[in-house]
Amino acid sequence: MEKVTVFAPATCANVAVGFDILGFALNAIGDSISIERIDEPKVVITEITGTNENLPLDPVLNVSGAVLLKLIADHQLNFGFELSIHKGIPLGSGMGGSAASSVGALVGANALLDSPLSKNELLSYALLGEKVASGSAHGDNVTPCLFGGLTLTRSLDPVDVINIPVPEGVFAVILHPHYRLDTRLSRSVLKKDLPLADFVAQSANLAGFMAGCYSQDISLIKRSLKDVLIEPRRASLLPGFFPVKRAALDNGAIGCSISGSGPSIFAWVEGQEHADKVRREMVTALESEGLQCDSWVSEINRQGAFIL
Ligand code: HSE
Repeated sequence: MEKVTVFAPATCANVAVGFDILGFALNAIGDSISIERIDEPKVVITEITGTNENLPLDPVLNVSGAVLLKLIADHQLNFGFELSIHKGIPLGSGMGGSAASSVGALVGANALLDSPLSKNELLSYALLGEKVASGSAHGDNVTPCLFGGLTLTRSLDPVDVINIPVPEGVFAVILHPHYRLDTRLSRSVLKKDLPLADFVAQSANLAGFMAGCYSQDISLIKRSLKDVLIEPRRASLLPGFFPVKRAALDNGAIGCSISGSGPSIFAWVEGQEHADKVRREMVTALESEGLQCDSWVSEINRQGAFIL
């Protein structure tokens, strides 16, 4: 193959109870990246269209370019890649835009290698992209973007990523309020020291959420999807968050919290029609606060980034 186009899904990280370790991928939103093999060992980004036309074309400064330059150098490739990027994920939205940029580029380039790498090997390059983008190599967006589904990143060194089963019939609602929140700022409000009682409560909720996913126990998931550590500290950065969350829960959502570092908000809901009703109520609640948003109902993407 000389040229491929990849769909890289948006992702919701943290999932209320798994800060920096849980994330799930979405079918409804994502980036598409076309990649062609070229004769010289370099990266050329010909265009960036979509939600982020102002991203740098210089491959050293661009997340997709940076990870591919490292791939070329590490494997001493005698060829390179030409990229055309269409961003469907808004930058600074908390939907894994930088993860999709690096994972999409890597999955595409990998298909053009003479000896393709494993997904675990690609993951180390994708983490580098997260470091370039936000200063922190957290894996909770890149792992669901690469592997699909709901992932638990138990360890990055050595890589230990576990796919957690999502009960059938669960849909995600995503709201993207029209303001931007930088991941560095959103991380800076988090305290390093945590009260022991909060740690105990969050551990109990994480364990309950895991058990609920494995046993398809929606009621247990609902009781467990509660973030006592991160959401209370970040909510002040998200105008409209509490009314939107109230609307989701009052209308029967399984759970609702901040998507990644925000400002997007996700909810899990049983059934597509029900999810659409919850979406409408969440949008109305945000609009009542004088804020506009984009919104989606999405299936969970089960396969990760894939070649179209
Ligand atoms: N776990 C990261 C955070 C995700 O919440 O800062 C960033 O998208």
